[in-house]
Amino acid sequence: MKIAIINGPNLNLIGVRERNIYGQRSFDDYLAELRTRYAFELHYFQSNSEGAIIDELHRTGFDYDGIVLNAGAYTHTSLAIADAIRSITTPVIEVHISNVHKREEIRHHSMISPACTGVIAGFGLDSYRLAIEAIIAMKHDNTK
Ligand code: DQA
Repeated sequence: MKIAIINGPNLNLIGVRERNIYGQRSFDDYLAELRTRYAFELHYFQSNSEGAIIDELHRTGFDYDGIVLNAGAYTHTSLAIADAIRSITTPVIEVHISNVHKREEIRHHSMISPACTGVIAGFGLDSYRLAIEAIIAMKHDNTK
């Protein structure tokens, strides 16, 4: 089993930025906990650049079992990331730390949701674990 977590812009500042929305914990700290929980490969990539995120989707999108993608604000704007998700074969789960539907209207629309297998939002950093659990469950679901 191989799962990739891809984080987009400003998510390197989790634990520092807007703590009232995104919490106090750094992503590195949370990732260390995830890696102790799961024995399989948990690859992590973060970039503030749209093109680098697309390159990483292309790189991981054919042989990983699942991709957990928090595209940050590109969620709401990027047709190019949506096209990249449609171009690969690995299932992509869209995640958000905050419940984007409770926030400003501009965050209610996602360009990438129609290209993703599913969406998890609003559970804080635990959204990532829930997405990993969804990938594991899909992998073991023999009814499909
Ligand atoms: C976010 C929500 C986005 O609207 C925002 O631009 C982010 C983080 C989240 O994880 O809640 O950068 O994706």
